Amino acid sequence: MLISGKKLLEKAYTEGYAVGQFNFLNLEVLQGIMEAAAEEKSPVIIATTEGAIKYARIPYLYHLAKAASETYPDVPITLHLDHGKDFAIIQACIKAGWTSIMFDGSSLPFEENMAKTKEVVKLCKRKGIGIEAELGVLAGVEDDVSAEHNKYTDVEQAVTFAKKTGCTSLAIAIGTSHGAYKFKGDSNIDIERLKEIKARVSIPLVLHGASGVYADLVTLAESYGANLKGASGVSDEMIRLATANGINKINCDTDLRISFMTGIRQTFKEHPEDFDVRSFCGNGKKMVREMVKRRMILFGSAGRI
Ligand code: G3H
Ligand code: 13P
Ligand code: ZN
Repeated sequence: MLISGKKLLEKAYTEGYAVGQFNFLNLEVLQGIMEAAAEEKSPVIIATTEGAIKYARIPYLYHLAKAASETYPDVPITLHLDHGKDFAIIQACIKAGWTSIMFDGSSLPFEENMAKTKEVVKLCKRKGIGIEAELGVLAGVEDDVSAEHNKYTDVEQAVTFAKKTGCTSLAIAIGTSHGAYKFKGDSNIDIERLKEIKARVSIPLVLHGASGVYADLVTLAESYGANLKGASGVSDEMIRLATANGINKINCDTDLRISFMTGIRQTFKEHPEDFDVRSFCGNGKKMVREMVKRRMILFGSAGRI
């Protein structure tokens, strides 16, 4: 069932767990995510970036999501636009049937971010769609989403922003970053800042750039020829602290990219004679499924259906 992101996150907020956002842009990655959600009995947020939309197009992505909801009628699924910046794409997604929109004005001056977020809130509210906004800047680079340095979310600004814009969830910057190279040493996030924001902002809070970039997976990928030197992510311990202190939505893209790519590489390496697309994409799908299950258990969304 495709449901509003607002509704899906309200339950997580009330019951105190986090739902994973998992990005997809093709059939196999989405199937891996959905198999995990069904097996773990977990609600799920499936997301497309503007980059994914340019790659695969709105009708394909929407109908893949619709197919997922028909295949798994008991799984609450939110179809979300991740890091929406372009109003034409935002409007097209709303029209097509996305049930949650992120407006990312994090690189804009505060007042402009508020004004633009309010416009998107107006567009979404009529349809009961969830609206995620972002305050603060995450460092890191992934195709269309990039920033040079972290700018942690200011607590006072977060209070004003949530009150004045009417967004239904808020992404905050507390030390994570997008991509596979997040920390030089141990992972570390600003839990004190999260606690302060949580105490004063009464909507679900979102953690971007939260992939685990697990050492076991990186080692496996490298054994099949990948070069991920220096890759590191947010530790499970940090994720547990984040969910215990008020994060209700956790975004993962990099973990799925590495998983899918590892599956493909494994088949290429172990079966060089095989040229059946189903062999390597099927193995990629299996790797995605296992990763998503691992994340759902960690986030506390498993068993919530
Ligand atoms: O949060 C950001 C995404 O992981 C970036 O994805 O390469 O599809 O824009 P993209
Ligand atoms: P990762 O790069 O850590 O997977 O973060 C993805 C993300 O924040 C998508 O919005
Ligand atoms: Zn993000």
